[in-house]
Amino acid sequence: MSLLSRCPVVPVVVLDEPAQALPLGEALLAGGIGVVEITLRTPAGLEGIRRLSALPELLTGAGSVLLPSHVDAAVEAGARFLVSPGVSADVVARAAAHGVPALPGVATATDLMAATALGVGEVKFFPAGLLGGPAAIRALAAPFRGVSFMPSGGVTAGNMHDYLALPMVPAVSGSWMAEPALLREGRWDEVTARAAAALRA
Ligand code: 3PG
Repeated sequence: MSLLSRCPVVPVVVLDEPAQALPLGEALLAGGIGVVEITLRTPAGLEGIRRLSALPELLTGAGSVLLPSHVDAAVEAGARFLVSPGVSADVVARAAAHGVPALPGVATATDLMAATALGVGEVKFFPAGLLGGPAAIRALAAPFRGVSFMPSGGVTAGNMHDYLALPMVPAVSGSWMAEPALLREGRWDEVTARAAAALRA
C-alpha cells in the first residue's frame, strides 16, 4: 500500500518535549488519524518518535530529514517513513537501504525530474501555499504522470479540500491539528477535535 493512501491528512508536529509524544499520539488516534510526521527540528523529535513506537497502530514517520545520518537516527528510533523538504539522492538511497519509504520535497519541475529519476513516486509539495497552491500542482504534475503529491506548508482546514480535489493529491499535511501551543498547553481534546474535523471534512 502506498504511504499517501494510508490517511488523507498527515499532521506535522514540532515537539518541544518528548513527554508530549504519547498523549499527542493518543489524541490523534482518538480523532481517527493513524499517521503522524514528527519533525527532527527539535532535540525532542527523535525521542518522541521512539516513544510513539509504543503505539503500533499509529504510523509514525520523521520529518525535516536532511542528511543520511538523519535517516539512520530516525529509523533507529522507529520511524516508518521519512519526509524531506527537498530532494537528496543520498537521503533517498539511505532510506531505501533501510527499506523505509522516503518522501522528498519538490517545488519545481527540476525537483520532480530529480525525484522521479531516483525512482520516487510520491513527493511532498513544499511550501504549497507560497508555490501557488492547487493550481501549481495541477500545472506541474502534467508531465509527471503517476506521481502523487502531498502538499504541505500553508495547508489548513479551510483549504485542504481544494488540494484533495486533485486526483494526484491523495493526502495533505500540515501543523494545524497539532500546533505547538496546543501541545505545550496539553490541550489534547482540541488535537482530537481538529483531527476528527479534518477527517470528517
Ligand atoms: C512543515 O514542514 O512545517 C510543514 O510543511 C507544515 O507547514 P504548516 O505549518 O504551514 O502547516
